[in-house]
Amino acid sequence: MSAPSSTRPVRWGILGTGAIARLVASDLALVPGAEIAAVGSRRQSSADDFAEAYDVPTAHASYGALVADDAVDVVYIATPHSRHAEDAALAIDAGKAVLCEKALAVNAREARSMVEVAREAGVFLMEAMWTRFHPTMSRIRRMVQDGELGSVHTVLADISTLRPTDPDDRLFARDLAGGTLLDLGVYPIALAFDLFGPPDDVLSTAQMGPTDVDEQCAGIFSYDDGRQVVWQASFRADAGRGLTIAGTKGRLRNDRNWWKGQPFTWTQRDGSTSTVGAAPEGNGYQFEVAHVCNCVRDGRTESPVMPLDESVAIMETMDAMREEWGLVYPNDRKHPDS
Ligand SMILES: NC(=O)c1ccc[n+]([C@@H]2O[C@H](COP(=O)([O-])OP(=O)(O)OC[C@H]3O[C@@H](n4cnc5c(N)ncnc54)[C@H](OP(=O)(O)O)[C@@H]3O)[C@@H](O)[C@H]2O)c1
Repeated sequence: MSAPSSTRPVRWGILGTGAIARLVASDLALVPGAEIAAVGSRRQSSADDFAEAYDVPTAHASYGALVADDAVDVVYIATPHSRHAEDAALAIDAGKAVLCEKALAVNAREARSMVEVAREAGVFLMEAMWTRFHPTMSRIRRMVQDGELGSVHTVLADISTLRPTDPDDRLFARDLAGGTLLDLGVYPIALAFDLFGPPDDVLSTAQMGPTDVDEQCAGIFSYDDGRQVVWQASFRADAGRGLTIAGTKGRLRNDRNWWKGQPFTWTQRDGSTSTVGAAPEGNGYQFEVAHVCNCVRDGRTESPVMPLDESVAIMETMDAMREEWGLVYPNDRKHPDS
């Protein structure tokens, strides 16, 4: 399929009709030059409901039919982690660009295979690490890179929510690769990679719940030059969801939902404060969508902001932590060629 020109919209196909698919679909309307061409669900009735709610012209009763739809340029994968590799391969095989929800896969083996098939096919693939695309986070990244904070040695990040254990919820389902690490922990981990790169040393711990997934986990990433990232993810308490990035000239602090593009307070050593960034319109997914549209129009097969090798390295880091915790998912046992 030829790349969409600047004169025609980039046409999206939504694969899966769950919670996040709905939020992203509503933000797609905020992106000039993007439109939803089709939705695919395992059930016609779900596809129809979604199509009606978001004014989508075509509703498919299978993911296969969605990816085969000639009216679709980019497939957005919004299924549980356990399906990402399979659903991405389906779309890539059909020649479609793919934006795949985080975590990119269940493990690094799956992530590498997704990257391999995308590169072989010359097709765009990106992990939907939406945090990176918020204007607020772009500004913060620049402040750190440009030395506005001085020498940055310390990051403290919480991402937590109170969710009672529910075996019927994908978040607690081992078969679907639920748990806090892949659902929430991936955000502060990706932030650490974004600001400092891969850690030189990792300490981590997790508490398992009754469904045998991690209901709380935490980590300390250390860097040989003395930098440190301390993070935690939890379903067992809402611990504030704050983020502090501290340097020798001051600290940036967000008190609530830092990964959602919310503004930060910049406090300098003399005590003066100012606000960095502004709350996004909508749910905040429009920035990653716009980025993917630009990449696809430019004929790119990879994002320079969320590179595939970095997504794989993040998965490798999470694999190593899970190995220490003894958290094995059914996907980990699948043979690569099965
Ligand atoms: N970026 C973000 O802010 C954000 C927020 C939440 C979640 N996520 C990510 O988005 C993905 C989906 O999360 P979600 O919260 O939207 O999940 P969800 O509400 O449970 O929806 C998942 C959808 O996947 C499809 N699906 C296919 N096989 C399934 C299975 N065996 N069990 C359940 N659903 C299945 C279903 O769609 P059909 O019935 O239509 O086939 C379902 O509605 C995950 O990777 C998660 O980490 C991202």
